[in-house]
Amino acid sequence: MRPIRLPMFPALVLALAACQPASPRVVAALPAPSLSDADLLARGEYLVRIGGCNDCHTPGYAESGGTVARDTWLVGSPMGFHGPWGTTYPSNLRLRMQQLTEAQWMEYSASLRTRPMMPDFAVRAMSEDDRRAIYRFVHALGAAGQPAPEALPPGKTPPAPYLGLVLPAAPQAAAGQ
Ligand code: HEC
Repeated sequence: MRPIRLPMFPALVLALAACQPASPRVVAALPAPSLSDADLLARGEYLVRIGGCNDCHTPGYAESGGTVARDTWLVGSPMGFHGPWGTTYPSNLRLRMQQLTEAQWMEYSASLRTRPMMPDFAVRAMSEDDRRAIYRFVHALGAAGQPAPEALPPGKTPPAPYLGLVLPAAPQAAAGQ
């Protein structure tokens, strides 16, 4: 799987945070976003574009060289990933985000655990701003498409098209991961 790198702009984030007016009320356990609404939307689009989300969750995205229209992004894919875990299908994130409130997404995405080939570790490693930005952008795109096919159990051959993976044993997780 290709490594996913996310750029960080701590100085920018701090600078923007310093410009925020004081919040009139305290929302329990949910820090106020440090980016403006417009910044979050733009950052969400950027992250989805460069973070690999479209590569798997948007049909035809990689094949078209990333030129698929934005309103058809992230509707899930019938291209399964077939391996020792069975067969998984990239979920329809457009429908998923409509089912979750922003607070629910922040909690869910902070400890996201899925089957392969989803890089759930990359989402868990994102900053709060980045996870919030992805929610804002995908939620704003609105509902579209159908749910992705149900995952299949191990040992069952899926219908084409699918990517079949023959993998070495997973390395032991390093301490502290
Ligand atoms: C290599 C392909 C791949 C990439 C890259 C990828 N995903 Fe996924 N994603 C999947 C697959 C496959 C599943 C379904 C996993 C399962 O069934 O357990 C999934 C599931 C998910 C889920 C769980 C959906 C649910 O219904 O609860 C979320 C959230 C998600 N992906 C978000 C993202 C985001 C955000 C990115 C970009 C940072 C991304 N994915 C990049 C393949 C991918």
